[in-house]
Amino acid sequence: MKILVLNGPNINMLGIREPGIYGRNSFSDLLDLLKETAREAGVEVEQYQSNHEGDLVDKIQAAYGKADGIVINPAAYTHTSVAILDALKAVSIPAVEVHISDVDAREPFRQVSYAGLACEKTIKGRGLEGYREAILYLKEKYGK
Ligand code: DQA
Repeated sequence: MKILVLNGPNINMLGIREPGIYGRNSFSDLLDLLKETAREAGVEVEQYQSNHEGDLVDKIQAAYGKADGIVINPAAYTHTSVAILDALKAVSIPAVEVHISDVDAREPFRQVSYAGLACEKTIKGRGLEGYREAILYLKEKYGK
């Protein structure tokens, strides 16, 4: 089983950006966690991070016919991007939305998620552990 993990803008700044909200773990810690989870679940995980909306759309389109699941943290594009929503709908790959912070307990604009409309599950406020939960969920439901 192949799972694509997509991260949007500023996720590469983990550990530096607003540690009170996103924690002290770095982006490299997240990559380690993904590798460990891939091993644990016996799945193939590819991670891609971009600060650019179109790059994320391109990556979702390229996953068509290749990935069996998508874990996506669109970061700020969560709350603005119809293009990412449409790309997820276009490929129809089972997707799980992840947010490191509890977006529901933050500013009202963070409580709107476009991408989430194309995701079958949303995990929020669980820190980096949320990515692990998302991968295990996809493996459990669609794993082969
Ligand atoms: C985030 C929440 C978003 O509102 C924010 O813009 C991010 C990260 C999260 O993981 O908690 O960049 O997606």
